[in-house]
Amino acid sequence: MQDFDNKVAVVTGAGGALGREIAAACAQRGMQLVLSDVNAEALAESERLLRQRWPAVAILSMRVDVSRLEQVEALARAAIERFGAVHLLFNNAGVGVAAPIWENTAEDWAWVSNVNLFGVAWGVKTFVPLMLKQQEGHVVNIASAAGWVHPAGSGVYNVTKAAVVALSESLANDLVLAGSSVGVSVVSPAYFPSGIVDSDRNRPGDLAATADSAMRRQHEEQVKKAVESGKISAAQIAGSILEAVEHNRFYVFPHPFVTDGIAAKSKAAKLGQTAFNPRTS
Ligand SMILES: NC(=O)c1ccc[n+]([C@@H]2O[C@H](COP(=O)([O-])OP(=O)(O)OC[C@H]3O[C@@H](n4cnc5c(N)ncnc54)[C@H](O)[C@@H]3O)[C@@H](O)[C@H]2O)c1
Repeated sequence: MQDFDNKVAVVTGAGGALGREIAAACAQRGMQLVLSDVNAEALAESERLLRQRWPAVAILSMRVDVSRLEQVEALARAAIERFGAVHLLFNNAGVGVAAPIWENTAEDWAWVSNVNLFGVAWGVKTFVPLMLKQQEGHVVNIASAAGWVHPAGSGVYNVTKAAVVALSESLANDLVLAGSSVGVSVVSPAYFPSGIVDSDRNRPGDLAATADSAMRRQHEEQVKKAVESGKISAAQIAGSILEAVEHNRFYVFPHPFVTDGIAAKSKAAKLGQTAFNPRTS
């Protein structure tokens, strides 16, 4: 998609670090915005900041839990009612939980899968038919480097992000088979500073954390340090994403070293000896 002017962009998780910057990058390019987040306060703050910088940009904000299909469908109805079309969908909302994988509770699995995997699935299920009808659109799914190489301590997160990569490739191939020009990009950043380390703030009460252990706390500490010391900012990542949409690029790796990790993993797979470990390879 090359002409962004007046296009309608839907951003999930728009109250968070990357979601807010994606929305800003869209506003900068003259788009109309549909912002959503499960956290109403964070969402309102994003809207306030965006209106301050771009007073002329049209914004629709709606509290949406992406893990609930009916809420995502309500978002699409509201977007169509207000703007008449949706051209860009950024499936960005995401949460993380750190623990050795045998310690993850059923609630950990349900919560993180519901948001990271089903949230993306419901976005695709709801918005792609609209884009097919319009014969125009682009879906951006935020995966992670963790969807390709899988460090210790983030097993459930790794699994859901690998699923987002698979979902995105499947979507792109299905669209080709359908002869559609709707575009897809899958974005796989490594660590960058954001609120992801404090994901529990949005964890629903019925799926509350119940487990604790020294190993879990150690992994949480490691992930927190890695996220906080990320060298690329959310704003830079948002810039790479918009550039990828403009050039209709499918794979987006804002941190160039991630593709080296994938190549090293392929090599390890050929040798067949030990599971590839991105922290020690
Ligand atoms: N920060 C990193 O190191 C990193 C690395 C790779 C990928 N990512 C991915 O980037 C995306 C954005 O995360 P971020 O790093 O900006 O974190 P963030 O916590 O700052 O933002 C995530 C946003 O998602 C929202 N959210 C949580 N649950 C939701 C739900 N059920 N429905 C709707 N919204 C919900 C939160 O309220 C928050 O505003 C996520 O998909 C994350 O997995 C982050």
